[in-house]
Amino acid sequence: MATTTTLLAIPAGNGVPCESANTIQNYYSFKLASSARTRDALPRIINWRCRSSRNGNGTMTMAALPVVLKQDAEEEWMGYLAPEKLEVLAHLEPWAEAHVLPLLKPAEEAWQPSDLLPDPAALGDDGFHAACRDLRARAAGVPDAHLVCLVGNMITEEALPTYHSVPNRFEAVRDLTGADATAWARWIRGWSAEENRHGDVLSRYMYLSARVDMRQVDRTVHRLIASGMAMNAARSPYHGFIYVAFQERATAVSHGNTARLVGKHGDHVLARVCGAIMADEKRHEAAYTRVVGKLFEVDPDAAVRALGYMMRRRITMPAALMTDGRDNDLYAHYAAAAQQTGVYTASDYRGILEHLIRQWRVEELAAGLSGEGRRARDYVCGLPHKIRRMEEKAHDRAAQAQKKPTPVPFSWIFDRPVSVVIP
Ligand SMILES: [Fe+2]
Ligand SMILES: [Fe+2]
Repeated sequence: MATTTTLLAIPAGNGVPCESANTIQNYYSFKLASSARTRDALPRIINWRCRSSRNGNGTMTMAALPVVLKQDAEEEWMGYLAPEKLEVLAHLEPWAEAHVLPLLKPAEEAWQPSDLLPDPAALGDDGFHAACRDLRARAAGVPDAHLVCLVGNMITEEALPTYHSVPNRFEAVRDLTGADATAWARWIRGWSAEENRHGDVLSRYMYLSARVDMRQVDRTVHRLIASGMAMNAARSPYHGFIYVAFQERATAVSHGNTARLVGKHGDHVLARVCGAIMADEKRHEAAYTRVVGKLFEVDPDAAVRALGYMMRRRITMPAALMTDGRDNDLYAHYAAAAQQTGVYTASDYRGILEHLIRQWRVEELAAGLSGEGRRARDYVCGLPHKIRRMEEKAHDRAAQAQKKPTPVPFSWIFDRPVSVVIP
C-alpha cells in the first residue's frame, strides 16, 4: 500500500458551511499523488473545485472543499471489486427480484407528465390558451429565489443520461448488454424510466410559465451532461448504493420542500408536480436504502467501512459541475439560494445522515467488525454532531460578520438578481 499523501477527494454537500479556506489550507497539506491513475483522473476536477469555490471573502462551501487523504484509503474501495465481494451482490439477485423490483411502478400505473400539464389536444386552442394563462398567473407568484431552486432541481433531473450510467458502473449489478434480464439490470432501467419523467414535467412546466430563459436553461443542461459528474469509488456497488441512497433522499427532501414553498406562494399545481416527483424519489430511496440495509446485514464490516469512506469525502451533489457559461460560481450560487430559501440546507444534509444511520442501525453494529470497521462506525455516528457544530459556528460567524445578502444575477431567469448570503 502506498502511503503518499494525496489530494484525491471531491467532497461536497449542498452548500454545507465549513471552515475558511485558510483554515483548511493550514490543516491539510496539498500534494498530488504520484500514481499516474490519480494524476490523470483528478486535475480537471480539482481545478474546477478550487476555481469555483473561492468567494470574495475567502470562504468556501463544502461544495468545493479539497480534502487530503492517504492514497491507501483511495485504494481501499478497489478491494470491493474482489470476486468474493462481488459474489455477495450476485447472490442477492433473487432477493432484489423479490424486495427491490416491486418498488418500481409500471408505466400503466405511474403518473406521466401529460397528466399534470395542459393538454392542447384535449383542450382545443381556446381551452389550451386559457389553461396556459392560468398556469402563468399561478407561476407569477413564485419568488425568483424559489424559481432559481426549481430550475436548478430541474436541470439536475435533466442530466439523467449521466445518472443512468452511474449504476451501470457498479460491478456485479450493471446492465452488461443494455437489455439484461437480471433483477439488478431491470431495476436500473426501470428506475431511469421513472426518473425520465421528472426533468420532463418540470421542463415543460417552466417552458409554459414564461418566467424562465429556456435557452440558457437548455444550454446549462447540455453543458452538465457533457461535463458528467464525479463520484468516489465509482465502480464499487457497496459505495455506489450508499451514494444513491443518500442522493435519493436528498432529492426527495429538495422536491418536497419546493412543493411546500411554491404552494405557499399560490402555485398549487406546481406544488402537486413537485409532490409527485417527491413521492417517486421516496420510493427510490426506499429501494436503495433497502439494498444497503441488506449489505449491512450480510457483510456489516464491509458496509460500514464503505459508509465511512463515502462520508469522509461527503456526498457530492450530482449537478455540482453545472455551468451556464457565464457564472463561474453557478453551482455555489444555486446552493446558496437553496440554503436561503430552505429548499435544501446544511441541516437537511445532516438530517439525511442521521436518518440513514438509524435505518441501517449503524450505532448498534458490533459483532463481526474489524478495527477499521469499528473506527468507521464511530466516525459516521459522530459525524452528525460535528456537522451540527459547524452549522452553529457558521451561524455565529455570519452573525458576527453581519453578512448581508449579495444580489446574484441568474441567467436562467433573464439575469434578474436573487439576493443570497454567500457562505
Ligand atoms: Fe428524480
Ligand atoms: Fe429518484
